[in-house]
Amino acid sequence: MKTKILMVCLGNICRSPLAEGIMKTKLPKDNFEVDSAGTGGWHAGELPDSRSIAIAKKYGIDITNQRARKFQLKDFETFDYIFVMDKSNLKDVLQLAPNQTAKAKVQLILNTIHNPKTTEVPDPYYGGEDGFEHVYQLLNEACEEIAKKILH
Ligand code: 4NP
Repeated sequence: MKTKILMVCLGNICRSPLAEGIMKTKLPKDNFEVDSAGTGGWHAGELPDSRSIAIAKKYGIDITNQRARKFQLKDFETFDYIFVMDKSNLKDVLQLAPNQTAKAKVQLILNTIHNPKTTEVPDPYYGGEDGFEHVYQLLNEACEEIAKKILH
């Protein structure tokens, strides 16, 4: 059985698609599945934001196969790990969790980093291009830690 990881943000067009793309480069495909979703469904069916596509491409990652979807209750069963980007995502996802087992799967992605400078991946949607570089760097560090811990 594959270990399944879900990345969650608000819109599933900026941060979590990037987290999905980065995480996939650090884990062997045969044993791991990585997906992403948004707590909101406004962008369902859409490609990632062009600025996320661009920053991923800069680091050699193609995320254009991804399409946004809304987080669903079934995800608590499907996935082993659910990583959220910020405290608002955390609150929204925990509110949907049907039981303690589901709750225990959810964590802030930056909490996987030892002594993180910040605990939240900031929403870059309304900012400029440099916001996406910052988001990439934070997610890359977190995904590296996750891979280390899961693969040890
Ligand atoms: P994301 O960014 O949660 O990183 O995908 C956002 C994208 C869209 C919106 C908010 C955040 N929106 O309000 O449409």
